Amino acid sequence: MASRSPSPEFSPLAIGEDLTPLPAYKEASTTLVNFSNLLEPPLRLHEDLTSGCGGQLWPAGMVLARHMLRYHKNSLRDARILELGAGGGLVGLGVAIGSQVDHPIHITDQENMLSLMIQNISLNRLRSRVVPLVLNWGEPLPAEVITEKPNVILAADCVYFEPAFPLLISTLEELLALCPDAIIYFCFKKRRKADLYFMKTAKKKFLVEEIEDIDRPIFSREGLFLYTFKRKP
Ligand SMILES: C[S@@+](CC[C@H](N)C(=O)[O-])C[C@H]1O[C@@H](n2cnc3c(N)ncnc32)[C@H](O)[C@@H]1O
Repeated sequence: MASRSPSPEFSPLAIGEDLTPLPAYKEASTTLVNFSNLLEPPLRLHEDLTSGCGGQLWPAGMVLARHMLRYHKNSLRDARILELGAGGGLVGLGVAIGSQVDHPIHITDQENMLSLMIQNISLNRLRSRVVPLVLNWGEPLPAEVITEKPNVILAADCVYFEPAFPLLISTLEELLALCPDAIIYFCFKKRRKADLYFMKTAKKKFLVEEIEDIDRPIFSREGLFLYTFKRKP
């Protein structure tokens, strides 16, 4: 089913005004990811760009997953976790393996990423703990999300396609309206000027705070930023 939200296809030619350059094309393969020894057993991640650009892990996903595993893995037991733009599920599945969470973790993306999410959930035997869902930014939230009222939202490398910026902002607003105490962990890589425009809008709408992380000197040199977004009082 085609999505009504605009989003880029993976194509080496898809580099233009709106879309940031995509990472180098990799052959489909399964790798083990232990997030710098923070995860045992490691995540088995199948990557396949034929499903879309989220079929490959992106740098902000690595930073956010490491942050969650290093600083939050023991405090998520009661959390109702939702990942946006999950791609193959890098962050949500890493958190699921590394933390004890009582509620199912919802990993979400567009329809074209669903089969890869399902494949990675199975590869890691997480079917009882992780639920894949289609969630198109800017569209009404799925019923499961409305029922669950997530209070921890993960979003990594979701700022890369300018026409989708207002859609992502509107989904973040809806999630904070649904659960006013929710915390959004948001990691992005600044690639172009337009990415700063996204953050300018986010700062108007949300309480945005840069968060402490021991790796900050390393990832900030690569243009990566790690924030929390909360509802403005
Ligand atoms: C750059 S990838 C990041 C994947 C993963 N979070 C990571 O860090 O490796 C961005 C993801 O956002 C998803 N996406 C793009 N536009 C979207 C939209 N309008 N609604 C929902 N997801 C979208 C893409 O399908 C893709 O999987």
